[in-house]
Amino acid sequence: MTEQTPVTDIQAAAVKATPTLPDAQTVTDVTHYTDRLFSFRCTRPASLRFRSGEFVMIGLLGDPDPKTGKQKPLLRAYSIASPSWDEELEFYSIKVPDGPLTSRLQHIQPGEQIILRPKPVGTLVHDALLPGKRLWFFATGTGFAPFASLLREPQTYEDYDEIIITHTCREVGELTYGRDLIEALQHDELLNEVIGEGFWKKIKYYPTTTREESPKMGRITDLMRSGTAFEDLDVPPLTPETDRAMICGNLAFNLELKDMLEEYGLEEGANSKPAHYVVEKAFLD
Ligand SMILES: Cc1cc2nc3c(=O)[nH]c(=O)nc-3n(C[C@H](O)[C@H](O)[C@H](O)COP(=O)(O)OP(=O)(O)OC[C@H]3O[C@@H](n4cnc5c(N)ncnc54)[C@H](O)[C@@H]3O)c2cc1C
Ligand SMILES: NC(=O)c1ccc[n+]([C@@H]2O[C@H](COP(=O)([O-])OP(=O)(O)OC[C@H]3O[C@@H](n4cnc5c(N)ncnc54)[C@H](OP(=O)(O)O)[C@@H]3O)[C@@H](O)[C@H]2O)c1
Repeated sequence: MTEQTPVTDIQAAAVKATPTLPDAQTVTDVTHYTDRLFSFRCTRPASLRFRSGEFVMIGLLGDPDPKTGKQKPLLRAYSIASPSWDEELEFYSIKVPDGPLTSRLQHIQPGEQIILRPKPVGTLVHDALLPGKRLWFFATGTGFAPFASLLREPQTYEDYDEIIITHTCREVGELTYGRDLIEALQHDELLNEVIGEGFWKKIKYYPTTTREESPKMGRITDLMRSGTAFEDLDVPPLTPETDRAMICGNLAFNLELKDMLEEYGLEEGANSKPAHYVVEKAFLD
Protein backbone atom coordinates (compact mmCIF):
# COMPACT_ATOMS: atom_id res chain seq x y z
CA MET A 1 0.00 0.00 0.00
CA THR A 2 1.55 3.32 -1.00
CA GLU A 3 0.90 6.61 0.70
CA GLN A 4 0.64 9.62 -1.60
CA THR A 5 1.46 13.02 -0.17
CA PRO A 6 -1.66 15.18 -0.54
CA VAL A 7 -0.88 17.84 -3.11
CA THR A 8 -3.32 20.50 -4.25
CA ASP A 9 -1.50 22.37 -6.99
CA ILE A 10 2.06 21.17 -7.21
CA GLN A 11 2.85 22.82 -10.52
CA ALA A 12 1.81 26.18 -9.09
CA ALA A 13 4.02 25.59 -6.04
CA ALA A 14 6.94 24.71 -8.32
CA VAL A 15 6.52 27.90 -10.32
CA LYS A 16 6.06 30.07 -7.21
CA ALA A 17 9.11 28.72 -5.33
CA THR A 18 12.09 30.98 -5.88
CA PRO A 19 15.38 29.06 -6.02
CA THR A 20 17.47 30.19 -3.06
CA LEU A 21 19.92 27.26 -2.91
CA PRO A 22 22.79 26.78 -5.35
CA ASP A 23 21.54 24.44 -8.12
CA ALA A 24 18.10 24.41 -6.47
CA GLN A 25 15.25 22.30 -7.85
CA THR A 26 11.70 22.17 -6.49
CA VAL A 27 10.10 18.95 -5.25
CA THR A 28 6.78 18.29 -7.00
CA ASP A 29 5.68 14.92 -5.59
CA VAL A 30 6.61 12.52 -2.76
CA THR A 31 5.48 8.89 -2.27
CA HIS A 32 6.35 6.74 0.74
CA TYR A 33 6.44 2.95 0.30
CA THR A 34 7.76 1.61 3.62
CA ASP A 35 9.41 3.09 6.69
CA ARG A 36 12.72 2.70 4.79
CA LEU A 37 11.82 3.64 1.21
CA PHE A 38 10.32 6.62 -0.65
CA SER A 39 10.44 8.27 -4.05
CA PHE A 40 10.14 11.88 -5.08
CA ARG A 41 9.95 13.95 -8.22
CA CYS A 42 11.40 17.41 -8.80
CA THR A 43 11.80 20.02 -11.50
CA ARG A 44 14.51 19.39 -14.10
CA PRO A 45 17.14 22.03 -14.94
CA ALA A 46 16.54 23.13 -18.53
CA SER A 47 20.20 22.52 -19.37
CA LEU A 48 20.40 18.99 -17.89
CA ARG A 49 20.96 16.28 -20.50
CA PHE A 50 21.63 12.74 -19.28
CA ARG A 51 21.60 9.15 -20.50
CA SER A 52 19.01 6.86 -18.90
CA GLY A 53 20.80 4.91 -16.12
CA GLU A 54 23.17 7.68 -15.03
CA PHE A 55 23.48 9.24 -11.55
CA VAL A 56 23.93 12.76 -10.19
CA MET A 57 24.80 14.33 -6.84
CA ILE A 58 21.80 15.64 -4.91
CA GLY A 59 21.26 16.89 -1.37
CA LEU A 60 20.32 19.60 1.07
CA LEU A 61 22.16 22.32 2.92
CA GLY A 62 23.97 20.90 5.96
CA ASP A 63 23.73 22.23 9.52
CA PRO A 64 25.24 25.71 10.09
CA ASP A 65 28.93 25.72 11.07
CA PRO A 66 28.95 26.60 14.84
CA LYS A 67 31.72 29.17 14.28
CA THR A 68 30.85 30.81 10.96
CA GLY A 69 27.15 30.00 10.73
CA LYS A 70 27.73 29.00 7.09
CA GLN A 71 25.87 26.00 5.65
CA LYS A 72 27.67 23.70 3.21
CA PRO A 73 25.78 21.47 0.76
CA LEU A 74 25.41 17.87 1.99
CA LEU A 75 25.44 15.83 -1.22
CA ARG A 76 25.10 12.13 -2.07
CA ALA A 77 25.14 10.14 -5.33
CA TYR A 78 21.66 9.24 -6.60
CA SER A 79 20.60 7.34 -9.72
CA ILE A 80 18.09 9.27 -11.79
CA ALA A 81 15.08 6.95 -11.79
CA SER A 82 13.21 8.81 -14.53
CA PRO A 83 14.07 8.34 -18.22
CA SER A 84 16.09 10.85 -20.25
CA TRP A 85 12.98 12.18 -22.04
CA ASP A 86 10.94 13.01 -18.89
CA GLU A 87 10.38 16.71 -18.24
CA GLU A 88 10.81 16.14 -14.48
CA LEU A 89 13.35 14.09 -12.52
CA GLU A 90 12.50 11.17 -10.23
CA PHE A 91 14.56 9.63 -7.43
CA TYR A 92 14.01 6.45 -5.40
CA SER A 93 15.52 6.67 -1.94
CA ILE A 94 16.41 4.79 1.19
CA LYS A 95 15.66 6.36 4.60
CA VAL A 96 18.65 5.69 6.86
CA PRO A 97 17.46 6.68 10.37
CA ASP A 98 20.78 8.29 11.35
CA GLY A 99 21.99 8.98 7.80
CA PRO A 100 23.31 12.55 7.44
CA LEU A 101 21.24 13.20 4.30
CA THR A 102 18.30 10.81 4.31
CA SER A 103 17.34 11.35 7.97
CA ARG A 104 16.28 14.81 6.68
CA LEU A 105 15.52 14.13 3.01
CA GLN A 106 12.80 11.63 4.00
CA HIS A 107 10.74 14.56 5.36
CA ILE A 108 10.88 16.60 2.15
CA GLN A 109 7.53 17.98 0.96
CA PRO A 110 6.24 19.22 -2.41
CA GLY A 111 7.18 22.87 -2.92
CA GLU A 112 10.45 22.49 -0.96
CA GLN A 113 13.87 22.57 -2.58
CA ILE A 114 16.77 20.17 -3.02
CA ILE A 115 20.24 20.79 -4.44
CA LEU A 116 21.04 19.00 -7.71
CA ARG A 117 24.45 19.19 -9.34
CA PRO A 118 23.76 18.85 -13.07
CA LYS A 119 26.73 16.60 -13.91
CA PRO A 120 25.38 13.14 -14.76
CA VAL A 121 27.79 10.18 -14.89
CA GLY A 122 27.66 6.39 -14.65
CA THR A 123 28.30 3.03 -16.26
CA LEU A 124 24.75 1.62 -16.45
CA VAL A 125 24.15 3.00 -19.94
CA HIS A 126 23.33 1.39 -23.26
CA ASP A 127 26.51 2.84 -24.77
CA ALA A 128 28.65 0.58 -22.54
CA LEU A 129 27.14 -2.64 -23.96
CA LEU A 130 27.72 -4.38 -27.29
CA PRO A 131 24.57 -5.29 -29.27
CA GLY A 132 22.74 -8.39 -27.96
CA LYS A 133 19.35 -10.14 -27.94
CA ARG A 134 18.45 -10.37 -24.23
CA LEU A 135 19.13 -7.67 -21.62
CA TRP A 136 19.26 -8.57 -17.91
CA PHE A 137 18.80 -5.97 -15.16
CA PHE A 138 19.93 -7.37 -11.78
CA ALA A 139 18.96 -5.26 -8.72
CA THR A 140 18.82 -5.46 -4.94
CA GLY A 141 17.04 -2.84 -2.80
CA THR A 142 17.33 0.72 -4.13
CA GLY A 143 19.57 -0.65 -6.89
CA PHE A 144 16.30 -0.79 -8.84
CA ALA A 145 16.54 3.01 -9.41
CA PRO A 146 18.70 3.10 -12.58
CA PHE A 147 16.53 0.36 -14.07
CA ALA A 148 13.40 2.43 -13.34
CA SER A 149 14.97 4.87 -15.80
CA LEU A 150 16.10 2.28 -18.36
CA LEU A 151 12.75 0.42 -18.27
CA ARG A 152 11.11 3.67 -19.44
CA GLU A 153 13.76 4.34 -22.11
CA PRO A 154 12.62 3.52 -25.69
CA GLN A 155 16.14 2.38 -26.70
CA THR A 156 15.87 -0.54 -24.27
CA TYR A 157 13.05 -2.03 -26.40
CA GLU A 158 14.52 -0.95 -29.74
CA ASP A 159 17.83 -2.69 -29.01
CA TYR A 160 16.65 -5.95 -27.37
CA ASP A 161 14.11 -8.73 -28.05
CA GLU A 162 13.74 -9.53 -24.35
CA ILE A 163 14.35 -7.65 -21.08
CA ILE A 164 14.61 -9.56 -17.80
CA ILE A 165 14.50 -7.56 -14.55
CA THR A 166 15.33 -9.36 -11.29
CA HIS A 167 14.81 -7.54 -7.99
CA THR A 168 15.81 -9.11 -4.67
CA CYS A 169 14.71 -7.43 -1.43
CA ARG A 170 14.39 -8.49 2.16
CA GLU A 171 10.67 -7.82 2.45
CA VAL A 172 7.62 -7.79 0.14
CA GLY A 173 6.87 -4.08 0.72
CA GLU A 174 10.29 -3.21 -0.67
CA LEU A 175 9.22 -4.53 -4.08
CA THR A 176 6.26 -2.11 -4.41
CA TYR A 177 7.98 0.75 -6.26
CA GLY A 178 9.38 -1.59 -8.92
CA ARG A 179 6.23 -3.69 -9.29
CA ASP A 180 3.98 -0.61 -9.65
CA LEU A 181 6.35 0.91 -12.22
CA ILE A 182 6.43 -2.26 -14.33
CA GLU A 183 2.62 -2.60 -14.19
CA ALA A 184 2.26 1.06 -15.26
CA LEU A 185 4.41 0.42 -18.35
CA GLN A 186 1.45 -1.42 -19.94
CA HIS A 187 -0.38 1.93 -20.13
CA ASP A 188 2.65 4.10 -20.98
CA GLU A 189 1.40 6.19 -23.91
CA LEU A 190 4.81 7.23 -25.19
CA LEU A 191 6.34 3.75 -25.21
CA ASN A 192 3.21 2.12 -26.67
CA GLU A 193 3.27 4.70 -29.45
CA VAL A 194 7.02 4.78 -30.13
CA ILE A 195 7.82 1.06 -29.72
CA GLY A 196 4.37 -0.34 -30.57
CA GLU A 197 1.35 -1.64 -28.66
CA GLY A 198 2.28 -4.53 -26.37
CA PHE A 199 5.99 -3.59 -26.22
CA TRP A 200 5.84 -4.47 -22.51
CA LYS A 201 5.45 -8.16 -23.36
CA LYS A 202 9.22 -8.11 -23.93
CA ILE A 203 9.67 -7.70 -20.15
CA LYS A 204 10.07 -10.63 -17.78
CA TYR A 205 9.88 -9.45 -14.15
CA TYR A 206 11.41 -11.70 -11.46
CA PRO A 207 10.96 -10.31 -7.92
CA THR A 208 12.31 -12.33 -4.99
CA THR A 209 12.40 -11.83 -1.21
CA THR A 210 14.80 -13.24 1.35
CA ARG A 211 13.32 -12.48 4.77
CA GLU A 212 9.57 -12.43 4.24
CA GLU A 213 7.31 -15.01 2.61
CA SER A 214 6.51 -14.27 -1.06
CA PRO A 215 5.76 -16.32 -4.20
CA LYS A 216 9.52 -16.55 -4.97
CA MET A 217 11.92 -16.74 -2.04
CA GLY A 218 15.72 -16.56 -2.18
CA ARG A 219 18.67 -14.56 -3.42
CA ILE A 220 18.78 -14.29 -7.23
CA THR A 221 22.37 -15.56 -7.19
CA ASP A 222 21.30 -18.80 -5.45
CA LEU A 223 18.27 -19.16 -7.72
CA MET A 224 20.56 -18.88 -10.76
CA ARG A 225 23.11 -21.35 -9.39
CA SER A 226 20.39 -23.95 -8.76
CA GLY A 227 18.92 -23.34 -12.22
CA THR A 228 15.53 -22.40 -10.71
CA ALA A 229 15.59 -18.83 -12.08
CA PHE A 230 16.27 -20.03 -15.65
CA GLU A 231 13.50 -22.65 -15.41
CA ASP A 232 11.03 -20.09 -14.01
CA LEU A 233 11.93 -17.54 -16.70
CA ASP A 234 12.06 -20.17 -19.45
CA VAL A 235 15.43 -18.96 -20.75
CA PRO A 236 18.83 -20.69 -20.96
CA PRO A 237 21.75 -19.53 -18.76
CA LEU A 238 23.52 -16.40 -20.01
CA THR A 239 25.99 -16.57 -22.90
CA PRO A 240 28.18 -13.81 -24.41
CA GLU A 241 26.60 -14.47 -27.83
CA THR A 242 23.07 -13.41 -26.83
CA ASP A 243 23.00 -11.92 -23.31
CA ARG A 244 23.88 -8.48 -21.94
CA ALA A 245 23.56 -7.47 -18.27
CA MET A 246 23.54 -4.52 -15.92
CA ILE A 247 24.07 -5.02 -12.16
CA CYS A 248 23.16 -2.60 -9.36
CA GLY A 249 23.05 -3.67 -5.72
CA ASN A 250 25.09 -3.86 -2.54
CA LEU A 251 28.81 -4.52 -2.89
CA ALA A 252 28.72 -8.24 -1.95
CA PHE A 253 25.89 -8.84 -4.44
CA ASN A 254 27.70 -6.97 -7.21
CA LEU A 255 30.92 -8.94 -6.67
CA GLU A 256 29.17 -12.31 -6.45
CA LEU A 257 27.11 -11.73 -9.58
CA LYS A 258 30.09 -10.30 -11.46
CA ASP A 259 32.01 -13.55 -10.78
CA MET A 260 29.04 -15.58 -11.98
CA LEU A 261 28.71 -13.58 -15.21
CA GLU A 262 32.46 -14.01 -15.85
CA GLU A 263 31.98 -17.77 -15.41
CA TYR A 264 29.25 -17.64 -18.09
CA GLY A 265 31.92 -16.01 -20.33
CA LEU A 266 30.64 -12.41 -20.21
CA GLU A 267 33.17 -9.56 -20.08
CA GLU A 268 32.80 -6.26 -18.23
CA GLY A 269 32.21 -3.17 -20.38
CA ALA A 270 32.66 0.56 -19.91
CA ASN A 271 31.70 3.74 -21.72
CA SER A 272 35.11 3.74 -23.39
CA LYS A 273 35.07 -0.01 -24.17
CA PRO A 274 31.61 -1.57 -24.62
CA ALA A 275 31.33 -5.28 -23.74
CA HIS A 276 28.78 -7.74 -22.26
CA TYR A 277 27.92 -6.42 -18.78
CA VAL A 278 28.29 -3.35 -16.53
CA VAL A 279 28.14 -2.86 -12.75
CA GLU A 280 27.42 0.01 -10.37
CA LYS A 281 27.11 0.16 -6.59
CA ALA A 282 23.69 1.02 -5.15
CA PHE A 283 25.45 2.49 -2.09
CA LEU A 284 29.02 2.81 -0.92
CA ASP A 285 29.56 -0.13 1.52
C1 LIG B 1 26.63 5.53 -7.66
C2 LIG B 1 25.67 5.58 -6.50
C3 LIG B 1 24.30 5.72 -6.73
C4 LIG B 1 23.40 5.78 -5.67
N1 LIG B 1 22.05 5.88 -5.94
C5 LIG B 1 21.17 5.85 -4.91
C6 LIG B 1 19.76 5.88 -5.16
O1 LIG B 1 19.31 5.98 -6.30
N2 LIG B 1 18.94 5.81 -4.09
C7 LIG B 1 19.40 5.73 -2.80
O2 LIG B 1 18.60 5.66 -1.88
N3 LIG B 1 20.72 5.71 -2.54
C8 LIG B 1 21.61 5.79 -3.56
N4 LIG B 1 22.96 5.79 -3.29
C9 LIG B 1 23.39 5.90 -1.87
C10 LIG B 1 23.39 7.38 -1.48
O3 LIG B 1 24.48 8.02 -2.10
C11 LIG B 1 23.47 7.62 0.06
O4 LIG B 1 24.39 6.76 0.65
C12 LIG B 1 22.11 7.43 0.74
O5 LIG B 1 21.23 8.42 0.25
C13 LIG B 1 22.19 7.60 2.28
O6 LIG B 1 22.71 8.86 2.57
P1 LIG B 1 22.88 9.30 4.08
O7 LIG B 1 23.70 10.55 4.10
O8 LIG B 1 21.55 9.36 4.75
O9 LIG B 1 23.71 8.12 4.75
P2 LIG B 1 25.17 7.61 4.37
O10 LIG B 1 26.13 8.09 5.40
O11 LIG B 1 25.48 7.92 2.93
O12 LIG B 1 24.97 6.04 4.52
C14 LIG B 1 24.82 5.45 5.80
C15 LIG B 1 24.72 3.94 5.65
O13 LIG B 1 23.42 3.59 5.15
C16 LIG B 1 23.49 2.47 4.26
N5 LIG B 1 22.95 2.89 2.95
C17 LIG B 1 23.25 4.03 2.26
N6 LIG B 1 22.54 4.07 1.10
C18 LIG B 1 21.80 2.94 1.07
C19 LIG B 1 20.87 2.42 0.12
N7 LIG B 1 20.57 3.08 -1.01
N8 LIG B 1 20.29 1.24 0.38
C20 LIG B 1 20.58 0.58 1.54
N9 LIG B 1 21.45 1.02 2.47
C21 LIG B 1 22.05 2.19 2.24
C22 LIG B 1 24.98 2.11 4.17
O14 LIG B 1 25.22 1.03 5.06
C23 LIG B 1 25.71 3.35 4.62
O15 LIG B 1 26.94 3.12 5.21
C24 LIG B 1 23.89 5.73 -4.34
C25 LIG B 1 25.27 5.60 -4.09
C26 LIG B 1 26.15 5.51 -5.15
C27 LIG B 1 27.61 5.35 -4.85
N1 LIG C 1 15.68 -3.96 4.75
C1 LIG C 1 15.44 -3.82 6.06
O1 LIG C 1 14.35 -4.13 6.51
C2 LIG C 1 16.47 -3.24 6.99
C3 LIG C 1 16.10 -2.96 8.27
C4 LIG C 1 17.02 -2.37 9.14
C5 LIG C 1 18.30 -2.11 8.71
N2 LIG C 1 18.68 -2.39 7.46
C6 LIG C 1 20.07 -2.07 7.04
O2 LIG C 1 20.09 -1.31 5.83
C7 LIG C 1 21.21 -1.72 5.00
C8 LIG C 1 20.72 -2.10 3.64
O3 LIG C 1 19.61 -3.00 3.69
P1 LIG C 1 18.84 -3.43 2.37
O4 LIG C 1 17.87 -4.49 2.74
O5 LIG C 1 18.35 -2.26 1.65
O6 LIG C 1 20.01 -4.03 1.47
P2 LIG C 1 20.83 -5.36 1.58
O7 LIG C 1 21.20 -5.73 2.98
O8 LIG C 1 21.94 -5.14 0.64
O9 LIG C 1 19.84 -6.50 1.03
C9 LIG C 1 19.05 -6.38 -0.13
C10 LIG C 1 18.78 -7.75 -0.67
O10 LIG C 1 19.96 -8.24 -1.29
C11 LIG C 1 20.22 -9.55 -0.83
N3 LIG C 1 21.66 -9.80 -0.87
C12 LIG C 1 22.57 -9.32 -0.01
N4 LIG C 1 23.80 -9.77 -0.36
C13 LIG C 1 23.64 -10.55 -1.44
C14 LIG C 1 24.52 -11.31 -2.25
N5 LIG C 1 25.84 -11.36 -2.02
N6 LIG C 1 24.00 -12.01 -3.29
C15 LIG C 1 22.69 -11.98 -3.52
N7 LIG C 1 21.81 -11.29 -2.80
C16 LIG C 1 22.27 -10.58 -1.77
C17 LIG C 1 19.66 -9.59 0.56
O11 LIG C 1 19.44 -10.92 0.92
P3 LIG C 1 19.65 -11.44 2.47
O12 LIG C 1 18.43 -11.02 3.21
O13 LIG C 1 19.80 -12.90 2.29
O14 LIG C 1 20.90 -10.77 2.99
C18 LIG C 1 18.38 -8.77 0.40
O15 LIG C 1 17.33 -9.55 -0.07
C19 LIG C 1 21.88 -2.90 5.70
O16 LIG C 1 23.09 -2.42 6.28
C20 LIG C 1 20.87 -3.32 6.77
O17 LIG C 1 21.52 -3.78 7.94
C21 LIG C 1 17.79 -2.96 6.58
